[in-house]
Amino acid sequence: MTTMSFEERTTELDAIAAAVRACVKCQLHKGRTKAVPGAGPYNADIMFIGEGPGYHEDQQGLPFVGASGKLLEEMLGKIGLKRDQVFITNVVKCRPPENRDPLPVEIETCTGNYLFRQIELIDPKVIVTLGRFSMGLFFPGAKISQIHGKAKWEKGRAYLPMFHPAAVLRSLESMKPQYEVDFRKLPELVEQAKKDAKPAPSAPPTPETPKKDDDPPSGSSTPPKQLSLF
Ligand code: URA
Ligand code: SF4
Repeated sequence: MTTMSFEERTTELDAIAAAVRACVKCQLHKGRTKAVPGAGPYNADIMFIGEGPGYHEDQQGLPFVGASGKLLEEMLGKIGLKRDQVFITNVVKCRPPENRDPLPVEIETCTGNYLFRQIELIDPKVIVTLGRFSMGLFFPGAKISQIHGKAKWEKGRAYLPMFHPAAVLRSLESMKPQYEVDFRKLPELVEQAKKDAKPAPSAPPTPETPKKDDDPPSGSSTPPKQLSLF
């Protein structure tokens, strides 16, 4: 939680993005075309954290604009969200040469200077980790095959580990149904976090206006709650 106003947070997040674009704090700056600070609303309920920019992201300075981004958008569509309703960023903000794994020192430098502050300022209800480096920040030592789709709660925020979309694409679509199941957990997690954040009783709950019928998640008899911000 932060006590800063949205205006103050916006100013600082803009400053972080500017600092990232000019950053030379680790060696990854040498090979980049454009650094990729992240994109999305500064008051997003959901924050996706990928690994690092790939070729297209490096060219455009925007996260997840290649094939992985397309799959991400498709999955978001399943839960009635567009990409501009979520904040999307990466563990490291500059593309590693030949898309190699980011080194521990690069991860530490970049997250210590940028990602953790972005999280603090955006203060999302749910953080989705995409891939093992992102997962490793919040679930050290975990195996994605064992924990994907299982949220953990910490200080009122849900952390949901998911497969990296590139892995799902490599699986020739066999992982896609499971990917969708994992994505469908998101709306409920957001609602749960909002409910938990409300000050105890007194004020009557604001009635929710149903927008449209979505497919209920399989195995559940109650329809998913609408994300009231959207
Ligand atoms: N893969 C990532 O991890 N991040 C991107 O931004 C694009 C592809
Ligand atoms: Fe700076 Fe991060 Fe880019 Fe390294 S990866 S140069 S720390 S912005």
